[in-house]
Amino acid sequence: MVKNIHRSKSFLEKISKIVPGGANSNVRTRNSIAVSGGEGALLFDLDGNRYIDYILGFGSVILGHGNETVNQFVYQSIKKGASFAFTTESEYRVCKKIVEVSPSVEMVRLCNSGSEAAITAFRIAKTVTGGSVAIKIQGDYNGGFDILAHDVPGVDGDNLDQGPFPIGTGFYKDVKKSIITIPFNDINLLENILSSKKGEIAVVFMEPILGNVAAIMPNLDYLKAVRDMCTHYGVILVFDEVKTGFRVGLQGAQGLFGINSDLTMYGKALANGFPIAAIGGKKELMELVRPGKVFHCGTYYGNLASTSAAEMVLSILSESDYTSLFRKGEKLAQGICDRLMQVGILSQWNGIGSMFGITIGDSKPIDYKTWWKNTDRKLWVNISEIMRNYGILSDDFIGLFFLSFAHTDEHIEETLKIFEET
Ligand SMILES: Cc1ncc(COP(=O)(O)O)c(C=O)c1O
Repeated sequence: MVKNIHRSKSFLEKISKIVPGGANSNVRTRNSIAVSGGEGALLFDLDGNRYIDYILGFGSVILGHGNETVNQFVYQSIKKGASFAFTTESEYRVCKKIVEVSPSVEMVRLCNSGSEAAITAFRIAKTVTGGSVAIKIQGDYNGGFDILAHDVPGVDGDNLDQGPFPIGTGFYKDVKKSIITIPFNDINLLENILSSKKGEIAVVFMEPILGNVAAIMPNLDYLKAVRDMCTHYGVILVFDEVKTGFRVGLQGAQGLFGINSDLTMYGKALANGFPIAAIGGKKELMELVRPGKVFHCGTYYGNLASTSAAEMVLSILSESDYTSLFRKGEKLAQGICDRLMQVGILSQWNGIGSMFGITIGDSKPIDYKTWWKNTDRKLWVNISEIMRNYGILSDDFIGLFFLSFAHTDEHIEETLKIFEET
């Protein structure tokens, strides 16, 4: 049981005086605690409370907090410096490993965040197709880039037809001319748009599992049809694997479903929380990224701290037993649903063991709208708040749980016991 959060509270008040919202990211302004650090599957707040963490740095921390092997490797590497304005062997090793394990990536460029990977993906797609419009899935979050930051989680799911709705203010004028948002798992609408707007559409961005809405799964026939349709209409298909990459298997969602994209965005689990992301894909597309063509540039892209972290993470993940990770996650997911059922609350779980979402209601959502309309989102907010007070951290809005390789069966049992008792 969390005893008190006085220190967290007064710290958040103090930092709010100099940092807007008391956090360096808008999503984090909702937080009621400040953190002193983590250890494996656990997180500790400023008041010394212990939490079992299922948020895991928004899914980045696949090996657990403070992984000693990764940290030691990073430390040894950066003794020689962190940022050089020259290419390092570490960059080569990371990129080589990404190419080796990714089903569709022949060449790759590194950057610092998923948002930056999306910007480069869009530029490549526009350059190669001559189109200027992006299609994205309602409820996907493909990063903060003006054009893509529409109809993301949090927008009113009742009025999506009148969208797209931006996530905030200050975007480029006329930005809506460059974005069309469509529901997940709806092939007919996609086909209508692609056929009626031939030559205008450059790219389809898609999280192959809706990681930003309770891990809603794709219908496999839908995913195959999206692939075929993009090929047929000459539109670039980008799988945003920032959440699924290296998490739903070493080969990500593409390995899981056996369906490849033209370009792939990676981030998060790639370096267990160190800032790195990647955009990769077919050789003929990636070769467009060069001086005078597609712009992709950043002072810290390929910095040694992040690349050495990624090197070690990928090496550990290559030897890791995902089956046991999935088994633990499924046990937790099913266990939560069973315990909710015991008190008369009907719920579902979506996704797979290392990344699943709980939705309260009697049917599985298939897209953002059905999640918004048919699930009791408020009840989930209440449940997750109670859990937080008992030392279990999970997403309080989209119902998402991440698991790391540091979570043990004991952590799962402790979590389920708390669910049962409260
Ligand atoms: C699926 C997905 N794509 C892209 C991003 C953006 O990544 P970043 O926050 O590193 O810019 C996120 C962030 O949560 C994400 O979940």
